[in-house]
Amino acid sequence: MISETKAIRITRAKESKLKGQNLAELKFGSQFTDHMFVADYVNGAWQVPDILPYENISLDPATSFIHYGQSIFEGLKAHKSENGDTFLFRPKSNWMRMNHSAERLCMQPIPEELFMEGMLQLLNVDRDWIPSGDSSSIYVRPFMFGTEAFLGVRPSSSYRFMVILSPSGSYYAKPVKVKIETEYARAMTGGVGSAKTSGNYAASLFPASLGQKKGFDQLIWTDAKNHEKIEESGTMNVMFVVDGKLITPKLSSSILAGITRDSVITIAREKGIAVEQRDVFVSEIISAIKSGTLTEAFGVGTAATIAHIESIGYQGDILELNPIANRTISPFIEKYLNDYKRGRIEDKYGWLVKV
Ligand SMILES: Cc1ncc(COP(=O)(O)O)c(C=O)c1O
Repeated sequence: MISETKAIRITRAKESKLKGQNLAELKFGSQFTDHMFVADYVNGAWQVPDILPYENISLDPATSFIHYGQSIFEGLKAHKSENGDTFLFRPKSNWMRMNHSAERLCMQPIPEELFMEGMLQLLNVDRDWIPSGDSSSIYVRPFMFGTEAFLGVRPSSSYRFMVILSPSGSYYAKPVKVKIETEYARAMTGGVGSAKTSGNYAASLFPASLGQKKGFDQLIWTDAKNHEKIEESGTMNVMFVVDGKLITPKLSSSILAGITRDSVITIAREKGIAVEQRDVFVSEIISAIKSGTLTEAFGVGTAATIAHIESIGYQGDILELNPIANRTISPFIEKYLNDYKRGRIEDKYGWLVKV
């Protein structure tokens, strides 16, 4: 339990929006809690942070991030266990990734205590919004943007770091149909693909919409130069099981280093499953599907934990994969990770932080 003695000013909302809400039915990202966390970096220093009633923010029309895109964010979840404890999953990893993004976008780094206390105290103030139930959680969205008002391409001298919370009810991750994208690219070597910055998501919208019109739920991005190597999916890293080995693209400047990816690799190794992080060629995946040696394909990310891939579209063909019911590794890891996040198994890696 964290104390409220830290230097965060707390102004409570006069009335809660919680009354009459059925937390179990809330859709992810559609509803926000009563409060928000706000910290400003101005004149070379972080100012006293606030927890304020959730409300609109007012911006100068020349605010730099609107024009030049210095905008980064994170996403993580807190889960309630059967005995009522709430745990954040690997928040320090999100802090480190946020500062990796900040460095790449030439933004101010966020001190660890500000990041952690901002999230924890906000969760504490809005504790009643944290849903219980096996498939419910509260999504935590830390984000930072350049706030200096000017026109010109240079880093902002001031930043705002905020955290908002979105409770989400039962989340059932349907198996997905994906398309291997060979025309458009999400990121390129040396670009900003490894940073969680808004522009990466904007860049993905048009190709994703073309895919959706053809019935695909998600794209699998390939390298921008030759479209020969698999990179990742829209909001997930991707993994394959071929000949019993877990294979996933190695991290690079064009791939987001997923925290779920790292957790899945850690658990797979613990369970004696061979893991290969390397270049994964589209051609080898297509031939492994055709020869039957590819038995599982799935996305890994905070939203779904594991999103089973049921079919892969490539160059006009649809390749149906091994039925989900016949898979063994991904359902096992999915259950293990979901149990871990809810404190049902020993926290041997120190991944849980109690709220
Ligand atoms: C582009 C992209 N790749 C991968 C991931 C998975 O990362 P994580 O497991 O940390 O949620 C995400 C989600 O944040 C993402 O947006």
